[in-house]
Amino acid sequence: MCGIVAVTGYKRAMPLLINGLKKLEYRGYDSAGIAVINSETKKIICNKAEGKLKNLINNVSNIDIKGTVGIGHTRWATHGKPEVKNAHPHIDNSGKVAVVQNGIIENYQELKIKLEKEGIIFNSDTDTEVIPHLIQKELHALSQLELESNGSTLLVAVRNVISDLEGSYALAILWTGAPDSLVVARRQAPLIIGIGEGEFICASDTPAIANLTKIILPLEDEEIALLNPLGIEIYNSNNERQFRNPISLQTSEQVIDKMSFRHYMLKEIYDQPETAKNWLDKFLIKDSDTGQLNINYNFDTKFFESIERIEIVACGTSKHAAMVGSFLLEQFAGIPTNVFYASEFRYSPPPLLPNTLTIGVTQSGETADTIAAINMEIQRRSSMSDEKYKPNLIAITNRVESSIGRKTSNIIDICAGIEIGVAATKTFFAQLLSFYGLAIKFAQVKGSQSEKNINQLISELTNLPLLVEQLLEKHNHSAEKLAHDFFNVKDVIFLGRGINYPIALEGALKLKEISYIHAAGYPAGEMKHGPIALLDKKVPVISIAIPGEVFDKVISNAQEAKARDAFLIGVAPECNGTEIFDHLMPIPSINEWISPLLAIVPLQLLSYHIAAHRGLDVDQPRNLAKSVTVE
Ligand code: M6R
Repeated sequence: MCGIVAVTGYKRAMPLLINGLKKLEYRGYDSAGIAVINSETKKIICNKAEGKLKNLINNVSNIDIKGTVGIGHTRWATHGKPEVKNAHPHIDNSGKVAVVQNGIIENYQELKIKLEKEGIIFNSDTDTEVIPHLIQKELHALSQLELESNGSTLLVAVRNVISDLEGSYALAILWTGAPDSLVVARRQAPLIIGIGEGEFICASDTPAIANLTKIILPLEDEEIALLNPLGIEIYNSNNERQFRNPISLQTSEQVIDKMSFRHYMLKEIYDQPETAKNWLDKFLIKDSDTGQLNINYNFDTKFFESIERIEIVACGTSKHAAMVGSFLLEQFAGIPTNVFYASEFRYSPPPLLPNTLTIGVTQSGETADTIAAINMEIQRRSSMSDEKYKPNLIAITNRVESSIGRKTSNIIDICAGIEIGVAATKTFFAQLLSFYGLAIKFAQVKGSQSEKNINQLISELTNLPLLVEQLLEKHNHSAEKLAHDFFNVKDVIFLGRGINYPIALEGALKLKEISYIHAAGYPAGEMKHGPIALLDKKVPVISIAIPGEVFDKVISNAQEAKARDAFLIGVAPECNGTEIFDHLMPIPSINEWISPLLAIVPLQLLSYHIAAHRGLDVDQPRNLAKSVTVE
């Protein structure tokens, strides 16, 4: 989380920084700040504001800072409350060094105590503030050696300091002693350098750069770089100069319009028929001889043949998509599959098994825990001498140019387009589709399903754009009406079974993250083992009941809730059995296999309307960020 941006060149820094921060606000909106070296006085001018970026923009709207070198930050609070004093940039006691950081310095307490004993005064509660103080201390020590005061001196000082830091960081640093230079460094958190016309701009993510240049140099892990208007020097952790060619940025700057929608989230829910269409156009190809529709993933059949089991790592909504994926991979394609919270996997991975495929699922491609879990798996498998244990990776992401995209060439691009709302909707839908593609591919290669079953599933998928469009039409208004009745409830329980258990989890996550109403999802059969004690007439129960393997069971579980006075809402087709629901959110009668792709839509709409009715900031819910780059 947190977005950083930094610039050096010939243009005024402030507008470039503000523009970059606008594109990074999805990474956190607890506070924002900028620091620029005034080109006349050579002093650092810093401005910070609590809350959203617009507050900083108000602060600086009438200030004309003449300076071409600067840094900016948009914060998601980790250490210290979202207050101005904790907003970045942080500045050392002499006022000469300014730092912005994305990450967590895990040993900051120890460093802080030491610095305080030396007389340094801390002005914030953050972990970051130790960095400018440590750099100033290093610069002071270097000045005793009578080194020239220039960017290289800053580079040496920063290198010495980061060797003492534990944890993860992306850093950008200004020093008045080298007023045209910037030093940037990264460990585990992303940082990209853009080569513009007349400036170098660094940022946590490409959208902050894309309007200035399409030529980028992603900084690799543990690298440090010195930038001034004349050039860039990049060094690795052994202090060896790195030379590499810039790459061109594939994504163009996209201006995403809310159109007539009140919030991006609603627009993105409405984008889903098109998401389905794009996915089908890209990944379903017709064999010109047989007319047979096939999944067009870019890995050869041998790749699929060698796999005996699958492990999937993901967080949040991506984990829910992975759980549906796991169900499909096991039950449809017959491959033993386990899903792990990436944050758990990285500290307690299962014992290594041979011929395992590891799948990382992350729409942003930058989730720290998912990246760390993948890194850990690559590392421990690469150290094995037996080929059978070597890493096999697939990344499922919406950002092919992201950190996860750079880990492997086996990428499934979910092609959902930019998602602005912090709550994932269309990216979840597209992740689900990616797993359908994988399950079909595995089922074909392993022969675990008949051709007829496979063709039937493919044919059901081709109906999705229309089905989802109809669902949206049918449900938007009724979900809004239902939201009027339920916007004030305290708890909601979501129930699902089998392939729709993860949809119950996702329905609950959507509701709680944007409406701040407590919601929990359970496998319907688990209700009676504890959660049923929560039920009374004030607790609505939303049950996903799809005719198929577990329909009768889910209906019985719903009956049990009704017997405890719960108000029952069903997400189900209009069919026998569903009359028990006090309110039905009808979905078409479809094959159970593809039901998650439809069942999620009314749940997204209901959450949206409840949050909107409560007057909340649906697109930027409190305490959250779109890209979670700290552990
Ligand atoms: O970018 P990722 O898919 O890796 O993000 C994972 C989670 O942080 C994310 O899904 C989160 O749970 C969202 N708030 C869900 O709406």
